[in-house]
Amino acid sequence: MNYFVTGTDTGVGKTLISCALLHAFAAQGKRVVGMKPVAAGCDEDGVNEDVKHLRAASNILATLSQINPYSFLHPIAPHIAARNAGVRIELACILTSYRELAAQADVVIVEGAGGFKVPLNELQDSAELAQQLNLPVILVVGMRLGCLNHALLTTSAIEASGLVCAGWVANVLDGEMSALPENIEALQQRIAAPLLGTVHFQAQPDAGVVATQLDIGLLGELT
Ligand SMILES: Nc1ncnc2c1ncn2[C@@H]1O[C@H](COP(=O)(O)OP(=O)(O)OP(=O)(O)O)[C@@H](O)[C@H]1O
Ligand SMILES: [Mg+2]
Repeated sequence: MNYFVTGTDTGVGKTLISCALLHAFAAQGKRVVGMKPVAAGCDEDGVNEDVKHLRAASNILATLSQINPYSFLHPIAPHIAARNAGVRIELACILTSYRELAAQADVVIVEGAGGFKVPLNELQDSAELAQQLNLPVILVVGMRLGCLNHALLTTSAIEASGLVCAGWVANVLDGEMSALPENIEALQQRIAAPLLGTVHFQAQPDAGVVATQLDIGLLGELT
């Protein structure tokens, strides 16, 4: 089963949770691969850090262009980064790479860029990519002040896109967040999809450890 991982914002832990999901499925003996269709911001070697993490958490061999069809040097909104590079992000190209990965793996975890409604070109956004991939969505909620609104807007957008939210993860970004349990409870009351796990703030987050904090069995109804 394959999933599209989105988040309440950029920098909320999508890569960490995507890698943790890959570890969790790999522990069940599955062939797993992560995909980052659009990445903006590259290291000196020309490769995006998310792509490196997803690759390291994958257990099948895949090419860089399959894992990351679109890569831009500077960390700017994707459609602007693409325009600056004289490129148009084509969903068809992403679908081709995705299908190649899906043919080789039992589980493909696709990490979206930024939040669910981030534009990818002048007409289409990340939500439309998820629709064309036709994947259940896993929502990473970055637990910090303001996240309730962002999380509920995102679940509304997922519903409006006609896709299923298969689960959500409470990823604690602010170790000092006030009323954390009450905030998680407020989301549990309002999000129909299961809470796959609460990932607490950790000084040096490790996807292998985070994997043990997620219950992928709760995705079972869909798999
Ligand atoms: N639970 C956590 N505890 C501590 N640090 C965390 C936690 N979750 C994520 N981080 C850190 O926050 C940063 C952003 O996380 P991550 O890269 O996974 O976010 P993202 O949503 O994938 O961002 P982007 O939109 O750039 O793809 C990273 O440095 C990551 O290690
Ligand atoms: Mg990321």
